[in-house]
Amino acid sequence: MSGSEQLGHGSGGTGAEPGDGNMVRRSRGGDARARLALALDFDDSVEAMRWALRLKGYFGVAKVGLELFSAAGPPVVTELVEAGFKVFVDLKLADIPTTTRKAARVLGAIGASYLTVHTCTGPATLAAGVEGLLQGAARAGLPAPVPLGVTVLTSEADAPADVLAARVALARDAGCRGIVCAAPDLPLARGVAPELLTVVPGIRRAGAGRHDQARASTPAEALARGADLLVVGRTVTEAADPETAAAEVLEEVAAATEGPGR
Ligand code: C5P
Repeated sequence: MSGSEQLGHGSGGTGAEPGDGNMVRRSRGGDARARLALALDFDDSVEAMRWALRLKGYFGVAKVGLELFSAAGPPVVTELVEAGFKVFVDLKLADIPTTTRKAARVLGAIGASYLTVHTCTGPATLAAGVEGLLQGAARAGLPAPVPLGVTVLTSEADAPADVLAARVALARDAGCRGIVCAAPDLPLARGVAPELLTVVPGIRRAGAGRHDQARASTPAEALARGADLLVVGRTVTEAADPETAAAEVLEEVAAATEGPGR
């Protein structure tokens, strides 16, 4: 199964309910909402939940990053799961293997559907993160989540192509089911490991501000290059009319994935 034909159990809106089982085969033209992750980059769980519930009709996945997790901890993950989201815990783990395994185990047990581990940590830490995440979910009786390897951060944008290729291969070989990469890196990444799910941040609506995203891309551009799951944050949450902005993004994804030839 290729990355573009699968989303993890983190894929809301595939006809499958949250926590409903193993990797879900998604037909081409599957629900656009399942391909959109809302980046809840807030320092307060009340505000994060308000945004999540407000935009629930447009996003099947809620992303909890370092800021929100530092502020609110595991309860916000649980609350988002209970609200019906697949939760993407984006902590970019990068500690020694034992610590990474134990942290990933906790996050798997509380219902993370996706978890990031940084590929720069090397094969032992990556494999430990994968193992811990899967163990944690299994022990809690939850379906298998999707471990993601973070490849090259925007802040390392001048990393040479061979670094990207090596990190994608590392993620695949360590058992990651997907990777996080910028849209311009997708062709190379998919060439190295076409079976991996591709998660792409830095999404901007056409004509909207780029904020601090050096390697921004529109939803349609990212999908055309092979993105599976799009991470969308400020282009919606800082828009003058967030619902209209979210609807535009959803419509663009639907058009790109449900049109002829897809
Ligand atoms: O769309 P916006 O720029 O607001 O989204 C930023 C989100 O994407 C943050 O949660 C950030 O952690 C994540 N991210 C990123 N660039 C990367 C990897 C992740 O912006 N290379």
